[in-house]
Amino acid sequence: MRALVQASLDGPEAMQVVGDAAVPVAGAGEVLVRVGVAGVNFADVMQTRGTYDGGPRPPYVAGFEAVGEVVALGDGVTDVAVGDHVIGTGYGAFAEFMVMAANGVVPVPVGWKDEEALGLVLNWATAQVSLRQLGRLAAGDTVLIQAAAGGVGQAAVRIAKYYGATVIGTASASKHDVVRRLGADHVIDYRDSDLVAEVRRLTGGRGVDIVLESVGGDTFRHSVEVARRVTGKVVVIGVAGGESSISNWELNFTHPVHVIGQHLTSTIQHAPDLFAEVLEELGQLIKAGAYPPGSPTVYDLADGPKVLAELESRATVGKLALRPSAGN
Ligand SMILES: NC(=O)c1ccc[n+]([C@@H]2O[C@H](COP(=O)([O-])OP(=O)(O)OC[C@H]3O[C@@H](n4cnc5c(N)ncnc54)[C@H](OP(=O)(O)O)[C@@H]3O)[C@@H](O)[C@H]2O)c1
Repeated sequence: MRALVQASLDGPEAMQVVGDAAVPVAGAGEVLVRVGVAGVNFADVMQTRGTYDGGPRPPYVAGFEAVGEVVALGDGVTDVAVGDHVIGTGYGAFAEFMVMAANGVVPVPVGWKDEEALGLVLNWATAQVSLRQLGRLAAGDTVLIQAAAGGVGQAAVRIAKYYGATVIGTASASKHDVVRRLGADHVIDYRDSDLVAEVRRLTGGRGVDIVLESVGGDTFRHSVEVARRVTGKVVVIGVAGGESSISNWELNFTHPVHVIGQHLTSTIQHAPDLFAEVLEELGQLIKAGAYPPGSPTVYDLADGPKVLAELESRATVGKLALRPSAGN
């Protein structure tokens, strides 16, 4: 099969398309999916450099997220049938076929094309669990969404507006129109302005109730600074700009806020009931029209290295995808 193989941990340029990768076999509890489109995520960029925790070692077929048709079932699979269209995660998504755990796949919403469902389990579920189940988002809250023009960020803006929040988004200046069109009340260029001063000004000095923090580095420190004292929550979902830290002394004295970690793989594994609740709520958002069919920018598999390099260099907006086969 056609697949995008990572030869070494030297970044996106160390990936190349091959035409003779072996089609994987669904083991017990797994399904084999013919990939319609694969989602490109920041995790893929990290994985190309070996900075994603627990990822595969090269050489390996890259990609974590895909949507497509189930074509074979492993032993013991009863809840999924051949012919079902599902979205899910696993290793080796940048290929014509991939294997997924049957208990982790989600049906493509009724009436949606496969590619319109991309992002449901990574972008939307991440935003939903972080803002609602962990952030306890409620109407009237003020929410700061870092990297609001990205895949997770765009979902988060829509979710926060749906639940009645005032939304402050951050993004590179060229992406501000996109964030405003999604409904954000304010957009800040966090690369070129004083984020902490701007958020304080917009909140009358009070700070925000929730920060969705995916950027890390100095921005993580800024997120902690602008969280409302005592009740404010910083939900940490990413480290795009590098590691950062806060000490117990700071949490005690200068920054008494809630810092909450969230990683979807852990959520699914250690809090399956919470994840089920997230999927249930996303279904309600779809019914209400607050979560519309997605419109990812789709590229051929061979463009994968270029697409990942653009994601790494902050040149992209919204959800990106790769189509493994011209015939799909
Ligand atoms: N915890 C989880 O379960 C989970 C699940 C999915 C994703 N994530 C995390 O959520 C974040 C967003 O993921 P995504 O796939 O939707 O990517 P994305 O937001 O579409 O792309 C990353 C964006 O982050 C911004 N950014 C800020 N600092 C950056 C830096 N130093 N390097 C690169 N980009 C930087 C850029 O937007 P601007 O140009 O506007 O700054 C860039 O376009 C990532 O950190 C990812 O690891 C976490």
